Amino acid sequence: MSVQSILFRRLVNDIPSTTYATHGLYMYPAKFIPQVVRYVINKYTLPGDWLFDPFAGYGTVAIESTITGRNCVLWDLNPILYLLVHASTHNETLTLRDLYIDFEYKDAFHPRWNNISYWHPREFYDVLSRAWGYWHREVSRKLKPLAAIPLLKVTRYFSYSDEKIAKLYKSKYAEEKVKKLLSTDWRRKMEKMYWDYAREVVEKVKEYQGYNPKPVEVVVKASDEKVFTSKYVVVDSIKEKLDREVDVLVTSPPYLQAQEYVRSFKLELAWLGFSGNFISNLSKHEIPYNEVREGYISSKTYEVLKKEVEKLNHEKLLKLYISYFNSLALFLNNNHDNVKNVIAFFVGPVKIRTSRIPIDTIIKEHLEYLGWKHEVTLVDTIVSRRLFKSETNPATGLEDERTPTEHLLIMRRVV
Ligand SMILES: C[S@@+](CC[C@H](N)C(=O)[O-])C[C@H]1O[C@@H](n2cnc3c(N)ncnc32)[C@H](O)[C@@H]1O
Repeated sequence: MSVQSILFRRLVNDIPSTTYATHGLYMYPAKFIPQVVRYVINKYTLPGDWLFDPFAGYGTVAIESTITGRNCVLWDLNPILYLLVHASTHNETLTLRDLYIDFEYKDAFHPRWNNISYWHPREFYDVLSRAWGYWHREVSRKLKPLAAIPLLKVTRYFSYSDEKIAKLYKSKYAEEKVKKLLSTDWRRKMEKMYWDYAREVVEKVKEYQGYNPKPVEVVVKASDEKVFTSKYVVVDSIKEKLDREVDVLVTSPPYLQAQEYVRSFKLELAWLGFSGNFISNLSKHEIPYNEVREGYISSKTYEVLKKEVEKLNHEKLLKLYISYFNSLALFLNNNHDNVKNVIAFFVGPVKIRTSRIPIDTIIKEHLEYLGWKHEVTLVDTIVSRRLFKSETNPATGLEDERTPTEHLLIMRRVV
């Protein structure tokens, strides 16, 4: 088996940093580094080709596609994908004035989520709901994604959530922060912070435009509750089927003990207009918490390690293990036929107690079963991304295993 050690950050030399252009407009847990996507683009595609990312998250693939002149199809369960892709690929002139928000707007917006008062003290809530009222009612459709970025950052800061970690979490630090803010001229600080972040957005969008993005097609399919589109839809990638052929699938699926993405974005989604019920329902589809049963995956390593997991006598873990791999297999079974050349999966091996789970090997074996050929696995020996800041994974309650290496699995269609 061909395995090569590399440094993903040095994989391509035409990318200045991991946050260049619009890659760092907003936080997103376990984001791709753009070098990985660019490497796949350079090596396996030509201008005009189609890329596909079914777990698109922030939309890293959209930025790299437009800069290099490739088309792309992006899916995600998380509705915020619409907003992030539109903001990060904005290709028209943008000035600071375009991002105007009235923090004293008369017509306040109130999230349809009972828990909202748990996250903001009354004082902050009153001003934020006026600012969001302006965003919902006065900002044009085109500018909404861009103005939302600084407004979301301010909203997150002026809340009991710890803005330093992606997970929505009321920490001691955040409670202290709120207490201190309330004893200062926080109202002025709030608006100033908005404009500082807005300036950053304008600069980053200009930087992106400096890379001369091409007028390619970017097809986004994410869940929506008639907020960004006219649709009420849950996009669960394991149930979706591609309606066109693509040249290359490049994705970084959720990790086996992944963060709960939708829950991490609950505050953002609520202010953007999603109801608490809709958001809770989305969470139920999240891999690996979606309780998919067995019957879809074909891999020897999967079977061997399943026995190891069974020995642990931990029902919850076994369920996660089964659901995770069968979800990914089900997605591949439904969609691999429409991928013409290459499948690139970016994953890290994780550990369940003492068993190390080589996700890439299991996916490789399943794809071989579907008729694909292993080309290479690139292994990064440096741990560059951290999924969690805390020691235990809040979703599983188990000790968190830092991902020791990251793997890019490359499979080719057999012709
Ligand atoms: C590791 S992140 C992807 C990050 C992305 N590569 C980037 O650069 O931002 C995995 C993504 O899978 C999504 N996801 C989890 N379960 C899903 C499902 N059933 N259908 C679609 N997307 C799902 C999560 O919302 C999350 O955005």
